[in-house]
Amino acid sequence: MLITGGAGFIGSNFIFYIHRKHPDYNLLCLDKLTYAGNLATLDSMINNKKFKFIRADIANRTAVYEIFKTEKPDVIVNFAAESHVDRSIENPAVFLETNVMGTQVLLDACRKYGIQRYHQVSTDEVYGDLPLDRPDLFFTEKTPLHTSSPYSASKASADLLCNAYQRTYGLPITISRCSNNYGPYQFPEKLIPLMIANALADQPLPVYGEGLNVRDWLYVEDHCAAIDLILERGKEGEVYNIGGHNEMRNIDIVKLICKALGKPESLITYVADRKGHDMRYAIDPAFIHQELGWLPVTKFEDGIQRTIQWYLDNRNWWETIINGEYQKYYERMYGNR
Ligand code: NAD
Ligand code: DAU
Repeated sequence: MLITGGAGFIGSNFIFYIHRKHPDYNLLCLDKLTYAGNLATLDSMINNKKFKFIRADIANRTAVYEIFKTEKPDVIVNFAAESHVDRSIENPAVFLETNVMGTQVLLDACRKYGIQRYHQVSTDEVYGDLPLDRPDLFFTEKTPLHTSSPYSASKASADLLCNAYQRTYGLPITISRCSNNYGPYQFPEKLIPLMIANALADQPLPVYGEGLNVRDWLYVEDHCAAIDLILERGKEGEVYNIGGHNEMRNIDIVKLICKALGKPESLITYVADRKGHDMRYAIDPAFIHQELGWLPVTKFEDGIQRTIQWYLDNRNWWETIINGEYQKYYERMYGNR
């Protein structure tokens, strides 16, 4: 199994999950190690005979073809992406290079060398957003694509390419669209780890706009389990929405983190809103539940405590990141906000 983007947040959790669940699988991780990729995350796997790491860019056709030729993967799970909405607003180009062109290179390699399954890890952001005053509305697999940010536009483009390669060339492709993940090893630019890190340092907690935007949070392992199930029993050409009906307002998440860490809410600082900020995401997971029997197992109350504890126990992992290049990004993003 070739796992791209496996040195990032969800990809690394997926590698751990799959290795536990299927210890006989040979796993190959391909990752460019961008600012978001951290090889230290995969420390526990590096010397494992069932695991191999190759540093490469999914948009580099020569490198990708060479890997397919020599390693002959049966199954590809594509996590590799530029994933942060704010960065896509700052600089969209790299999002098109990796998320669109990179996906195309992988799909071409699949055609050229033959595979059993290509799985595209997509996002609920391809559906745009829902209004706050219509709690009866949810994203289903039939909701039209309607993107807001360069990030979501690039992910939707990749999904459309996957559909096209499946229909035109008969490639065995599945797509999953998941809601917001949280858990260990999430890069501290994303809401939950950023707030934990700032709160622990008694730094301001920058809430965009009024903090009323709603996200549908899912513990990362539940996402990994859903992908594993789709690989085993999912139907080629199908899209599966993944989410656990766990909608929370940003401000409530931030207050919860303050409480859990014993920090004052006075750290909360309202800053300028994100441009084009999506109001509400909410997945209807009925299809994957009916077709594959998937249901999330981690309750938010447990998952968030476990996540906060992980960041407390693994300060070295995220402090090293914060001390490096990320600091310049932080200054650019929040300096004059
Ligand atoms: P992440 O930013 O933590 O990790 C991305 C990984 O991809 C990093 O290891 C990075 O080095 C690697 N990468 C980036 N560009 C690459 C390239 N050109 N070639 C090879 N590797 C490259 O992202 P994440 O949060 O783990 O998200 C993983 C996937 O899941 C993405 O496709 C994202 O769109 C999707 N997704 C994320 C969420 C979420 O809440 N984080 C929810 C739904 C879907
Ligand atoms: O829904 C799935 C998506 O979830 C994934 O496709 C993306 O890769 C992932 O990054 C995530 O996107 P969001 O934009 O929802 O996540 P983020 O953590 O950046 O922000 C969550 C919410 O918190 C959003 O409404 C913006 C807000 N926010 C974020 C940051 C970083 C703040 O208020 N302050 C912040 O400093």
